[in-house]
Amino acid sequence: MALPANFLDELRARTPIAAVIGRSVKLTRSSRDWKGCCPFHGEKTPSFYVYEDHYHCFGCGEHGDVITFVMKSTGAGFMEAVEDLAAQAGLEVPKPTPQAAEAEQRRAGLSEVLEAALKEYQLWLWGQEGRPALDYLRGRGLADDTIRRFQLGWSGEGRGALAGALRGQNIKPDQLIEAGLMKQGERGPTDMFFGRVMFPIRDRRGGLISFGGRIMGDGQPKYVNGPETALFSKRRSLYGLNLAREAVRKGAAMIIVEGYMDVIALSQAGFTGAVAPLGTALTEEHLEEIWKLTPEPIICFDGDAAGQRAALKTAELALTQLTPDKSLKLLRLPAKDDPDSLIKRGGRQAFEAALAKAQPLSAVLFGMLKAGQDVATPEGRARFRQRLAGAANSIPDKMLAAEYRTALMDAFFAGRERPARAGLQPRGKGRFAPASPPVPLPPRMAPDADAAQARRARLMLAILLAFPALIPEVEEAFSHVRLPGEDEVLREALHNFVSRAKTLDMASLFTHLGVLGLDGQARVLQTQTRAEFRLAPDASPAEAARNWWSLYELMDFSIDMLRTQRDEAQALWLANPDDRAACDRLMRYNELLTRARSGAAGLEEF
Ligand code: UTP
Ligand code: MN
Repeated sequence: MALPANFLDELRARTPIAAVIGRSVKLTRSSRDWKGCCPFHGEKTPSFYVYEDHYHCFGCGEHGDVITFVMKSTGAGFMEAVEDLAAQAGLEVPKPTPQAAEAEQRRAGLSEVLEAALKEYQLWLWGQEGRPALDYLRGRGLADDTIRRFQLGWSGEGRGALAGALRGQNIKPDQLIEAGLMKQGERGPTDMFFGRVMFPIRDRRGGLISFGGRIMGDGQPKYVNGPETALFSKRRSLYGLNLAREAVRKGAAMIIVEGYMDVIALSQAGFTGAVAPLGTALTEEHLEEIWKLTPEPIICFDGDAAGQRAALKTAELALTQLTPDKSLKLLRLPAKDDPDSLIKRGGRQAFEAALAKAQPLSAVLFGMLKAGQDVATPEGRARFRQRLAGAANSIPDKMLAAEYRTALMDAFFAGRERPARAGLQPRGKGRFAPASPPVPLPPRMAPDADAAQARRARLMLAILLAFPALIPEVEEAFSHVRLPGEDEVLREALHNFVSRAKTLDMASLFTHLGVLGLDGQARVLQTQTRAEFRLAPDASPAEAARNWWSLYELMDFSIDMLRTQRDEAQALWLANPDDRAACDRLMRYNELLTRARSGAAGLEEF
């Protein structure tokens, strides 16, 4: 008896494969993916790649999904691996009851019913009776092979036409109701779709799950979407995802648009990474699905007021899930346009030009939040300021929230017009909101503490220059360490180096730095930190790591960050009370917090 497929999907969605594999294999970024040394055969140079939903070793050919990985790496059986992952994700494994097996079979059955209907719809579109519909689609600028690629169809005129056509295949009206193609009327089942051009909706793996239908011309409602069924959940599904997924993996930009026709028109013009929600606003689940494919999808809603409202709603929703690797870009179209009409008017080039102007969320958020706000009165300005603070505070990542807060407030004050008064210097900043918020400065510390911190941070950097093999291990922690501004380029260079280099030794690191013109700066840093550098050139990696981490522990992090990390560590440990590493981590953060609390003066309450 099988587990329900949707449970396994949920499980895979909740257990990011790179995180699971990363527990036992040292992974480093390789452009959008991860790579490391294959755990299934001995190797010294990494040929084991981890993608969005599977892994593959180019050395020995091992591959699979997150469940396979647990099975193969621990020798667990399928159910054991599932239970293990489910426990870590806080999911309960449904009992494989006969009912569950039956429900699963029904879902498979529904999919077949939908496929059978799709065949009819397509036959009708390309046949005699679908002629007006085909002309309509061609009239909207679709080429015949676009119509075929998206498998568009014609619903027929209704009155049981579909049920009649499928009777021969032993498909009953009850099944059509369950599949969302008919509904129960007062006098028996009636068609859900009639007199409409049909758009099949597929899930991300390409399984048929529902249809949308458009009326030809101006009637109401313009679009009908299939109802929620065992297969179709609107808050999870995105039109075009199965095709866009492939395209995005091959490098296409991921674009989120409003409508069916936008997806199709974009695809026809060569922008094959477009998806659209299905008659609902974009949801949290949609964003999660999209971020699995790309860290910065582009929102491109209609240029009208409704489209802009929807874009703002989406931006606000995204803030509540934002991390440094999950963001958005936004693209604003001329007021009368949607992507479809823009391409029709100006062709591929017009959209290409618009696309080039897409801006990161951080650059446009201020302007979006400002629209419609009263900034002429103190009350209005106070409300607006509250709105800005609210937006920043909704970001769960504490560091990122602080960055947004500073940037939004800077823009708020920069936009303020002050009457010039005799004897007062005008503010240094311009009178207009900057196009993109200025890079916020880190909070100030006492000057001497500041200097000590900076010295340690540079020393940590010097250790990494001498022992590049250490970088992957400490990279994440190091990203929280505040460096003097001029050294930031070196950190960036180290980061690029590990994501590209084949061997992590000093010689190749310095070659890399040389290419970037940074080797001189790196050598100066080495000279300047020599007095405090405690490691011999032939120190073991373990010694270097110990030295690095002990410096790290001395860093004076903002309390906020420590607290977030502690809370995260605690949640992890609570979910996994047997995990020694989780327990150690929690204790380490508690200790750091205690130290910070007793050490620093004037800190806020915990
Ligand atoms: P639009 O009205 O912008 O449609 O609705 P569109 O994609 O530009 O379509 P055309 O070009 O007029 O044919 C955007 C999306 O909102 C949903 C549909 O998913 C549609 O694609 N919608 C719209 C409905 O669900 N019902 C409606 O009555 C209208
Ligand atoms: Mn539209």
